[in-house]
Amino acid sequence: MAAGIDDIAVYIPRLYVDASDFAHARGMDPAKLEKGLGVSKMAMVDTNQDPACLAANACLKIMQKNKLSPESIGRLYVSTESAFDESKAMNSYVIGMLEQVYGSSSFEHCGGVETKFACVSGSYALYDNTNWIRAGEAEGKNALVVVSDIAKYDLGSSGEATQGAGAIAMLLNDKPRLLAFDPKVTATSIKDDYDFYRPFGKETPIVHGQYSNLLYLIQVRKALEAWKNKVISSGLLEIGKDETILDYIDYFNMHLPYANMGKKALAYLIRHEWRSLPRWKPLIDKIGMAEPQPKDPRGTIESVLGDQEFMEKDHEFTKRFTNTEEFQEVYESKLASSLIASKMIGNLYTASLYLGFRSSLEFEYQKGVDLAGKRIGFGSYGSGASAMVFSGVIQPEYESVVKDMNIEAEIGTRKKLSLEEYEKIHENKLTIDQSLLSPKKEFVLVEIQTKPEYRGERRYSFNE
Ligand code: HMG
Repeated sequence: MAAGIDDIAVYIPRLYVDASDFAHARGMDPAKLEKGLGVSKMAMVDTNQDPACLAANACLKIMQKNKLSPESIGRLYVSTESAFDESKAMNSYVIGMLEQVYGSSSFEHCGGVETKFACVSGSYALYDNTNWIRAGEAEGKNALVVVSDIAKYDLGSSGEATQGAGAIAMLLNDKPRLLAFDPKVTATSIKDDYDFYRPFGKETPIVHGQYSNLLYLIQVRKALEAWKNKVISSGLLEIGKDETILDYIDYFNMHLPYANMGKKALAYLIRHEWRSLPRWKPLIDKIGMAEPQPKDPRGTIESVLGDQEFMEKDHEFTKRFTNTEEFQEVYESKLASSLIASKMIGNLYTASLYLGFRSSLEFEYQKGVDLAGKRIGFGSYGSGASAMVFSGVIQPEYESVVKDMNIEAEIGTRKKLSLEEYEKIHENKLTIDQSLLSPKKEFVLVEIQTKPEYRGERRYSFNE
């Protein structure tokens, strides 16, 4: 049975910080953000927004657009790493908000949980719900998987330039118009590690930035190896002599903590795949230097990062490699469109990968490419750490969904924050009722209870 993504809706808060203003305020070269990281705007939540109302707004959009009734939804999962309760799951808040619009108890038949594994948890939720459909348990109903996060780092930290906020709702069913997942090839890797984590009670993560970059690459490559083995052993794809499995992927979608991480990841994966192929030798001649090797053959992350000579040479090698025509051709045709929305919005943690997918559909379609039958490869990564590599094929009916995609219109008119406003919001200096924007047909947070017996209870309202 086919199962996959039928439609996708994006909800992005309308406040943003401009990368150039931010760079000037922090004494940084704006080119580091624009060119080095690929960040031009970072979406920020207003004082009356939390990850639950972002998720509910994305759900409402997808339900209204597809005229879905609550009865047609059998599962509603929310994946997030911005949870504000240790016990009550975020999807329950979303159900509560949706019932303000669709009527009391209108979702009571529906099941679901909140899932957590940093940025990769949405991919696990998609996989589990796809299998719920494939197993015939859905009985014709849809699943909604919502990925929602506020990517917030400490003021003055290196991560501060890679913030963002938003939610994406994905409608899954057995007649998906957009993408059917390839069955039985989804592959994972997992490791107990501390590249990025957020201990209880702390609002921002503890981050080892360069370590996290490398761990991301290593874990995704491990999952890619496992995916490759499954694809070949299952006969999904047959790889010819002197070819790599990556030649058979029409579009790559990578987890995007910042847009340029997608390019870094593509370069890393391609480099490893091409190394054993006849195409590598002429490429090395063009690059004009041998591929550098770390001094410590064990190649642990710590030893690699500590080997400054290797790091510098490898940086130079990567730069030359990514400038080759051969890499540029793959980058422009298979990845670049997925990075456009990320540059406009920033990191969405769980939702970043799917913002990339959405972006790739919109901007490839605009180029006039017929997307039907194209195979998409997804590289999902969550700190802490796990990666998932999976794939799917664009369905013949995709055009009916993609032709109306317009990310700018979907975000709506945005307000640029001054640095002073941004810092006040960031440091929670404003109260819920001091919001900078008036809500428009959306859910907002109106109260968080402080009385001991009700502490933490949240109230939301829908504003017409
Ligand atoms: P940094 O160390 O300040 O930056 O922080 P850098 O020195 O590495 O520079 C970044 C890039 O800008 C480099 O490009 C520089 O060359 C370039 P690259 O060499 O990598 O191609 N650059 C310039 N370019 C043009 N003009 C200039 C200029 N100066 C420098 N003047 C870091 C970077 C990503 C580490 C930091 O922002 C950070 O800590 N971010 C948060 C952690 C993160 O995003 N990690 C990514 C991997 S882990 C992950 O994705 C999981 C995550 O999403 C969480 C989850 O799973 O839940 C984070």
